[in-house]
Amino acid sequence: NLFEEAARLIKQSRKTIVLTGAGISTESGIPDFRSPGRGLWEKLDPMEVLSTGVLYNFPEEFYKVGFKILSSMRNAEPNEAHYILSEMEKEGIIFGVITQNIDNLHQKAGSKNVFEVHGNTREGSCLHCGKKVSFEVLEEKVNKKQIPPRCDECGGLLRPDVVLFGDPMPYVFDLAVKEVKSSDLLIVIGSSLAVSPVNFLPDIVRHLIIINATETPYDYKADVVIREKASYALRNIW
Ligand code: OAD
Ligand code: ZN
Repeated sequence: NLFEEAARLIKQSRKTIVLTGAGISTESGIPDFRSPGRGLWEKLDPMEVLSTGVLYNFPEEFYKVGFKILSSMRNAEPNEAHYILSEMEKEGIIFGVITQNIDNLHQKAGSKNVFEVHGNTREGSCLHCGKKVSFEVLEEKVNKKQIPPRCDECGGLLRPDVVLFGDPMPYVFDLAVKEVKSSDLLIVIGSSLAVSPVNFLPDIVRHLIIINATETPYDYKADVVIREKASYALRNIW
């Protein structure tokens, strides 16, 4: 069956790396961006709301809408899929996890080698002087209705250190690309593979497993496609 086939590929692989997207965290209660029936994102376009265009031109709007969504992810807990990946890393079965998620759940589950290619919700920074602040500082200011929050040092606009549409990719993405190039197998879990440049990673690796609830544009390239929930699929492969 498909699970056995996936397990066999993983066993045969010298180096395996995982790419995760929002779909691995839906079972932790965080809505993804592109599943049908996803409430909020049916009406809002992440390319607009979570963009530098809105942050720079309409900072109040950014903090009233986009920031609320980022902030709400921080209370979630990892699910079985995150824990199995952490265990697989500990046992040397996978090298690490490249994630498009900013919810910190891989780290919460114990994964060590995590490439956060879309940033994180642990920190923010000043757009003017570059001073780093913790995400809590942003939240405190927003809660005190200091919207948009400003830098204590220079009064510049503060931003969360997540990658917004319009931002360049962070350096850690280059590191992730290197790791994929030196891997035999990439396992994609819970990503629609709709967003560039992350979605070219399946093109630069020899073997590919896709675990996703719905179709992706790379299914035709994959050695194995498992159209199931992430936790169920990983439990069976494990
Ligand atoms: P998407 O919402 O585009 O895709 C999530 C995929 O996960 C969908 O294809 C779902 O069918 C699938 N899915 C949902 N629940 C699942 C489950 N329990 N098990 C398996 N699959 C499941 O999310 P991403 O591909 O991560 O970027 O989106 C990429 C980027 O677009 C995000 O990082 C974010 C967004 O705009 C930025 O904000 C820069
Ligand atoms: Zn500043």
